Amino acid sequence: MENNTESNVIIEAQNVTRTFWMGEVEVRALRDVSLKIKRGEFVAIMGSSGSGKSTFLNQLGLLDIPTSGTIIIDSVDTSRMSEKEKGEFRLRNLGYVFQDYALLPELSAIENVYLSLMMQGKNKEECQKAASAMLIAVGLEDRLKQLPSKMSGGQQQRVSIARALAHKPRVLFADEPCANLDSTASKQVLELFRKFNKEVEQTIVMVTHEDWHVEYVDRIIRLKDGVLE
Ligand SMILES: Nc1ncnc2c1ncn2[C@@H]1O[C@H](COP(=O)(O)OP(=O)(O)OP(=O)(O)O)[C@@H](O)[C@H]1O
Ligand SMILES: [Mg+2]
Repeated sequence: MENNTESNVIIEAQNVTRTFWMGEVEVRALRDVSLKIKRGEFVAIMGSSGSGKSTFLNQLGLLDIPTSGTIIIDSVDTSRMSEKEKGEFRLRNLGYVFQDYALLPELSAIENVYLSLMMQGKNKEECQKAASAMLIAVGLEDRLKQLPSKMSGGQQQRVSIARALAHKPRVLFADEPCANLDSTASKQVLELFRKFNKEVEQTIVMVTHEDWHVEYVDRIIRLKDGVLE
């Protein structure tokens, strides 16, 4: 049985190592990283370029497989899942925001969000409602039918946040979500994250290397050469 303190933990990395091989050269991107993130926490992962931030986020978000060690999400040991189970788990429980927005260019804002909700197997009307509600929540009520190419970077990133949050994921992962944005658009994105973190206790794990972003988060995790500082 778990005690109360343990059940506050939504995601846990246990002795996670990730090694890449570049021909004969071994790159130890993560070395024996252990960490617990609490439900409702907003965490920043920081460190210099090449320190392993994206590699670590990809392990936590089940986008990659550790060389050794385990990721536990909501008491589920994900190392025991098949690739198919992991794919379904990601779709239902996790949300992602990337620095390049990753929107489908031929689809409007609402269609981008709607499509990802349809992949969850929900009915059409429910998905349409949820998609427009999320776009309104991120301040894009007047852009529902616009194509990504007709939007600013900040607006596109807000569409991708709406898409990532529409199915109410247990954890939201964001890898340098403000990297391509100016400081005004970056602030809007960070304020949205903080709003969802406070209002619906959204757990968020965000990679950033901007020092001024730290004022938005609850905790900073620093990586150096693949090791937690
Ligand atoms: N697919 C890969 N194949 C080989 N090496 C990789 C791969 N992905 C990452 N690495 C190496 O692992 C180390 C950590 O990379 P990672 O992308 O996690 O760094 P980062 O902290 O996110 O850097 P940045 O701030 O530049 O995004 C680097 O030395 C990188 O070259
Ligand atoms: Mg990176």
